[in-house]
Amino acid sequence: MWGGRFESEPADAARAFTRSFPWDRRLYREDIVASRAHAAMLGARDIIGASDADALTAGLDRLLQELDEAGGPVDAGDEDIHSYVERVLIERLGDAGRRLHTARSRNDQVATDMRLYVKGLTLRIGRALVDLMAVLVDRAEPDTVAPGFTHLQSGQPVTLGHYLLAIHEMLSRDVDACYQVFALADVCPLGSGALAGVPYDIDREHAAHALHFSQITRNSMDAVADRDYLLAVLNLGVGILLHLSRWAEDLVVWASPGFAMVEFADAYATGSSIMPQKKNPDIAELVRGRAGTALGIASGMAATVKGVPLTYGLDLQEDKQALFRMEDLVLPSLGIMREAFKTLRFDRARMAQMAESGYATATEIADYLVERDAPFREAHEIAGRVVAAAIEAGVELTALTDDQLQALDARLGADLRERLTAERAVARRDVPGGTAPRQVRLAIADARGRIDLERGRLRELAASGLPAALAPWRPLND
Ligand code: ARG
Repeated sequence: MWGGRFESEPADAARAFTRSFPWDRRLYREDIVASRAHAAMLGARDIIGASDADALTAGLDRLLQELDEAGGPVDAGDEDIHSYVERVLIERLGDAGRRLHTARSRNDQVATDMRLYVKGLTLRIGRALVDLMAVLVDRAEPDTVAPGFTHLQSGQPVTLGHYLLAIHEMLSRDVDACYQVFALADVCPLGSGALAGVPYDIDREHAAHALHFSQITRNSMDAVADRDYLLAVLNLGVGILLHLSRWAEDLVVWASPGFAMVEFADAYATGSSIMPQKKNPDIAELVRGRAGTALGIASGMAATVKGVPLTYGLDLQEDKQALFRMEDLVLPSLGIMREAFKTLRFDRARMAQMAESGYATATEIADYLVERDAPFREAHEIAGRVVAAAIEAGVELTALTDDQLQALDARLGADLRERLTAERAVARRDVPGGTAPRQVRLAIADARGRIDLERGRLRELAASGLPAALAPWRPLND
């Protein structure tokens, strides 16, 4: 912003370098709605005349409608979205437009816009998470056995449903984090001015209430300097993408020929330009890659904030790009994982085979011996010898003869063999949080209940926590 103090116009290069309109145009709704609340408050407090306040609110309403119809503002060279909105109002309303910026600074203005945007974004993310969680639960088969790994080595058999509910748990923590970030952003900085507050008899609660903020900031310097809510939403995005990335990594492995437990639908896989046999899990790979990109954005923004002296510095303007880029990484990743997973083919026979391969039921032998009063350490030792004998003979555990078992330990009876199937191994892990089909059924019912609860909570926050004009999803399609 250049003004009367300047004798010359800014250099084109300086103007081009410092402007943020190309990115912050995306804040036009928040900026207009916040300006409307500010103008109405100025009128209510007689800081500007009633007719000016009316002209401003009507002018802002009209501009919002026009921009919605046009799909957002077009770049006419304005420095940022705030300058754009003010310029249009001045062109249309004259002096009334020139009064809008009374008792306000772009510093408290941009913080208000961004907090409103972050509140809406956390709800959009929350909903995308819940939509994905619902698909995970729909496909969580409690009776299908699958291999469970540690170190990517055969560990113990699990049920497919149990595995998918593990992903569900990760995402449900992300939903919790959405509410936390929403709450962090839910504080109104308007009225903090440039940094010291404003010398007018404003009503901060009035404006905050109109914007559906639940409270106002307590310190004007902190209010314009603070970007904690911004870093928090970036970290929320990183957390989600880290979860998606670990899942995506499993899918890449599971889809590889050595495992061959899942196959992406043709619509969600790609071929190779040279190797005709290839079917690549590109979507999973890209989600994994985008987690890296997101991490760079979040750590880059933290590094930017770290050096800004109190209160505001234009470094903070960089937060727009970070925020929007993060939104564009997180929401499409959640959406595409949902679609790709919905159509993923499970090879259940292969999963069952993998579940028992690599002597994955060996722990059963130790548990069997513990039931026959062996101390666990000793039982573990003997079970290890059974595995070694099977490896030596080149057979599965179940193929060892009664004599071979007896020779290893007299307590190893013929009834051990039936215990060594994946089905028996999973069924016996019937503790809360365990993989037994009975537990997984309970967990599925519980997860469905929580999904319904979250849907309701998100809907309620969308209705009560934001002005109608900023509803995070329009139309409300659930
Ligand atoms: N475009 C600026 C931003 O995004 C608005 C605030 C400008 N304030 C200032 N003192 N230059 O942060």
